Amino acid sequence: MKKICVVGTGYVGLVTAAGLADFGNSVIGADIDESKIDILKKGGIPIYEPGLGEVVERNVKAGRLHFTTDINSAIRKSRVIFSAVGTPPGDGGEADLRAVWTVATAFAKNLDSYKVFINKSTVPVGTGKKTHELILKESGGKQHFDVVSNPEFLREGSAVGDFLNPDRVVVGTRSHKAREIMKDVYHALLMRTVPYVETNIESAEIIKYASNAFLATKITFINEIANLCDIVGGDVKEVARAMGMDGRISPKFLHAGPGFGGSCFPKDTMALAEIFKANGIHTRLVEAAIAANEHQKQSVVDKLRSVMPILQGKTVAVLGLAFKPNTDDTRFSPSKVVIPLLEAEGAHVQVFDPVASAQHRALYLQPRDHGPDHRPTACPCAHTSPRASPRSSTSCFSTRTAGDL
Ligand SMILES: NC(=O)c1ccc[n+]([C@@H]2O[C@H](COP(=O)([O-])OP(=O)(O)OC[C@H]3O[C@@H](n4cnc5c(N)ncnc54)[C@H](O)[C@@H]3O)[C@@H](O)[C@H]2O)c1
Repeated sequence: MKKICVVGTGYVGLVTAAGLADFGNSVIGADIDESKIDILKKGGIPIYEPGLGEVVERNVKAGRLHFTTDINSAIRKSRVIFSAVGTPPGDGGEADLRAVWTVATAFAKNLDSYKVFINKSTVPVGTGKKTHELILKESGGKQHFDVVSNPEFLREGSAVGDFLNPDRVVVGTRSHKAREIMKDVYHALLMRTVPYVETNIESAEIIKYASNAFLATKITFINEIANLCDIVGGDVKEVARAMGMDGRISPKFLHAGPGFGGSCFPKDTMALAEIFKANGIHTRLVEAAIAANEHQKQSVVDKLRSVMPILQGKTVAVLGLAFKPNTDDTRFSPSKVVIPLLEAEGAHVQVFDPVASAQHRALYLQPRDHGPDHRPTACPCAHTSPRASPRSSTSCFSTRTAGDL
C-alpha cells in the first residue's frame, strides 16, 4: 500500500484519488478550492460523474481516502504525489502550466524524504524535464526525487469505469526506482494484466496529445462526411456504421454532430499545434481539424437557417448544454457557440440538459446586453430526468425573458 497525495480534485483528480484508494492505496485528495473540499468532507461530490459517489464513499468509509486543502501537509505525508491540476489553454492556444509549476514548487518545498512527482495532467512534451529542473532548484538538491509522466485517458461520463478498467496505463520515466513504485501503485491493474506501457517521459507526454488529436481528427472526418451526406442524400449513420465494421477503422468516435467540445479535445489539439510550432514544424492535419471543427459548430445554425431563413422571434430549443451526455462539463461545448449565434439572430432560446444545469443555468441567465428588464427567467416546463444531477433544480430554461416567449 502506497501513501499517495493527488493534488487537484477535479474531473481527473477526484476519479484518480478514489480509484487509487480503491486499488488499496492510502490517498489524500488535496485542492486549493475550499468549497470543493468542503463538499467532499461532508460526503458530497462536487462534479457530476456516474458511479463516482459510491467509490468515494466506500473508500472514505474504509479509511483509505481523505480530503484536505492543506497541500503542504498532504505532500509531506505522502511518498507519491500526483499532480492533476488543470492545464487550460493560454492566450495563444498553448497549455497554461502555471498550476503545474505551483504544485511542483510545493512538492520541492516539502521534499523531506525521497518522493515521486507524477504528472497526470495533460502537458506539452518537455514539461517533465522542466519539472525536474524546477524541483531540483527549489529544493536545493538536498533530497532525491523522481518525476514521472502518467497521462490520463478517462472519458467524462464513464470516468470511473475507464479508470478502474483502462485500455492501457502509460508510465514515462527513466528511473528504475520510480518504475517499481508505479507498479506498486497500479498493482491491482497489473494483477488483471491490463496493458501497461513503460516508456520515457517524452514519449508518455506525446502519447496523450497524439491520442486526443487523433480522436478529434476522426470526429472531424465523420462530421465532414455528414455534411456531404446532407447535400447528396446519404445517411451518415449508415455510412459510419459500415465504415466502423472495418477493423482497421473501428466504430468508435465516428458519431457525427455539431463539432467536438469538452475540456480536452479543443485545448489539446490547439496545444499540440503550438508544440509543433515551438519545435519549428507544422501539423497541417491537426490545424485543419481545428478549423473544420470551428466551422462545424457554426454550421448548425446555417443548417437551421436553410429551413427557416428568419430566426428573429422564433423559439429554438437547444437539447444538450454539455459537450456530451452524462456530464455537467460545458467547457468548449458547441452549445456555447450555437446559443449566442441563435440569440444574435433574434431567436428565443430554450435549453434542456438533464445534467449540466445549476451553475450553467446561472451563467446563461446572467443579464447580458438585454438590460435589467430583460433578465431571463426559468422556463416553466417541469422536465425531470433519472440522470439529473442532485444539484440541479430546473434543467430546462430560457436564455431570454419569459415575456419574450
Ligand atoms: N476532464 C477530462 O476528461 C480529462 C481527461 C484526461 C486528462 N485530463 C487532463 O487532466 C488535467 C485536469 O483536468 P480536469 O478536467 O480534472 O480539470 P478540473 O478543472 O476539473 O480540475 C482541476 C483541479 O485542480 C485544482 N487546482 C488548480 N490549481 C491548483 C493548485 N495550485 N493546487 C491544488 N489544486 C489546484 C482546481 O481547483 C480543480 O479542482 C488537465 O490537464 C486535463 O487536460 C482531463
